[in-house]
Amino acid sequence: MIDLHCHLLPGVDDGSESMEESLEMARALAGLGFRAVCCTPHVQVAMFSRSTEELQELRDKLQIAVTRAGIPLELLPGGEHHASEVLEVLAGDRLLRYRRRDAFLLEFSLRGFPPRVDEMLFRFQLKGLTVVLAHVERYPEVQADPRALAPLRERGVQCLVNLSSLARRWDAASQASARTLLQAGLVDAVSSDLHDPDGVEAVAEGLAALRELVDPSAFERLTDTTPAILAGLEPGPAGQGA
Ligand SMILES: [Fe+2]
Repeated sequence: MIDLHCHLLPGVDDGSESMEESLEMARALAGLGFRAVCCTPHVQVAMFSRSTEELQELRDKLQIAVTRAGIPLELLPGGEHHASEVLEVLAGDRLLRYRRRDAFLLEFSLRGFPPRVDEMLFRFQLKGLTVVLAHVERYPEVQADPRALAPLRERGVQCLVNLSSLARRWDAASQASARTLLQAGLVDAVSSDLHDPDGVEAVAEGLAALRELVDPSAFERLTDTTPAILAGLEPGPAGQGA
């Protein structure tokens, strides 16, 4: 499995706080069956601001530690851009992309879709960029009506659902929305959005719930085939370690 959304890098956002914590999370993700994880720290100028070079250096350092610890996990680039600032970031050519380079992770405010969302998505489309949209099950418009995703999907947006949303302990609205979206085939991939070792249990629970909810081929598509393509890896077991 490939994880497109994870706060694994230590000390750069509200995710892992230390190298030790990152290693614990990496070990747990590998234990759950992940072969690669995109490190996607929040990118918000006021709160979390790191250059692409700094993040790459940190990722390389963590990859060395992960490999030394005997954890079979490949760390890949990425960043979670907030809709309120992403156009500015794009204009400054500071977009943190997946290894595929023409794809990146975007999040909306949990209060709702940004104003003029279609215009924003059109601008990405014009630049040949694929938007991977984080935790779609958590936006109020989608919780009210899954059809709110239709115009976004028509613009080529790839929709992610957090595995933890499928776990029992998550909020009921997100859980119901995640299940509805998965059953309606409106989800392109699932991801951990893991922030700390305490979140591992909910990811494991989410994976178990997903296996119950969808057939094995959909499970494969949601956890490996589609995320691999978006992350810039070869899909399927043949791509392991690519
Ligand atoms: Fe996130």
